[in-house]
Amino acid sequence: MIPLFKVNMPKDISVDNLLHSGFIGQGKYVDLFEKKFANHFNMNFNNVLTTDSCTNAIKLALVLAGVESGDDVVTSPYTCLATNSEIMRLNANIIWYDINKYTGAADVESIKRSISSKTKALIIAHLSGMITNDLEDIIDFCHSNDIKIIEDSAQSLGAKYKDNYFCDKTDYICFSFQAIKQLTTIDGGMLYCKDCDDIKRGKLLRWFGFDRTLSTDFRCSQDVKEVGMKIHMTDIPAYIGIKSLETIDEVIKRHKENAILYEKLLKRVEEISICHFVKSGSSFWVYPIMANKDRDELKKFLQDNGIGSSLVQNRLDNKTCFKEYKKDLPNLDYFIERILYIPCGWWVSKNDIYHIVEKIREYYN
Ligand SMILES: Cc1ncc(COP(=O)(O)O)c(C=O)c1O
Repeated sequence: MIPLFKVNMPKDISVDNLLHSGFIGQGKYVDLFEKKFANHFNMNFNNVLTTDSCTNAIKLALVLAGVESGDDVVTSPYTCLATNSEIMRLNANIIWYDINKYTGAADVESIKRSISSKTKALIIAHLSGMITNDLEDIIDFCHSNDIKIIEDSAQSLGAKYKDNYFCDKTDYICFSFQAIKQLTTIDGGMLYCKDCDDIKRGKLLRWFGFDRTLSTDFRCSQDVKEVGMKIHMTDIPAYIGIKSLETIDEVIKRHKENAILYEKLLKRVEEISICHFVKSGSSFWVYPIMANKDRDELKKFLQDNGIGSSLVQNRLDNKTCFKEYKKDLPNLDYFIERILYIPCGWWVSKNDIYHIVEKIREYYN
């Protein structure tokens, strides 16, 4: 079987010493992972903080952006549930924007139409690893309307936007280190904030509201001005993250090289449209294709031939929990009927890709 996903755990890693060191909470390895991650992806250490998941990094970003009960948050219905679940839990309102029907990325015009005086924040999810080309336009538009931008980069570690790992105009970026991401800490997340004051507040809010750096008996001696959560990373995931950073460039390179080969081979398959081109800078966590004919049958054929594929995420607007936000989304209707993700990761060899494309051709012949 060529799986769609594979766990990328660093080789020869031993956490035995750490496990029995007498300290397994949030300590020096968390600080070190934040420093090394920031350094690796050209960010400043003072602009990042770790969390226990990307879901909670998004939650923290929403709180830091000032989203409160009754505010509107404009977001995509085509993403993982985690992008939007915390909006609901804050009792804010969801306003869906439609997507680009050929790429699944945010549609700028639809975003502009969805924004009102009640909008507090906009979330953009970079699915399968592609950062939308229009990001800067969207940010400028939002900032001129006093709206904060939250990027959900759970799937896009290693993606490039205009040759950089991130756009420095953005307010918040949330990364995921969950089991099947390019870099895993088993579970974990990272939040980038443009404003260092947000990081200071975020570091308090991720652990009840206490400042862990001030004294050892902080639980007893410190006042808490703003009640926080318990969403911090601990030293063992952080240590795994540090080890994973040693090979992350090679991993990201392998995904991108595989995408180059797919693009070359799939151009010649009439029934398939390429959805994200290599020049987009995508990290290609998975490789998206548009099957213009028989998507579900193709998926089954691939499965029967030992090739994993999936829709990865389905539209959220049809789920009962979001029923009050129903909206006409014609581009999403088009996209969701055709999209299919095929394996592209570091474990997929060149021969595997020739084989996968050959099987796709065989199905349509
Ligand atoms: C787009 C997107 N957002 C958010 C998440 C949530 O990440 P985590 O599992 O780290 O909370 C995921 C997880 O796969 C995701 O794909």
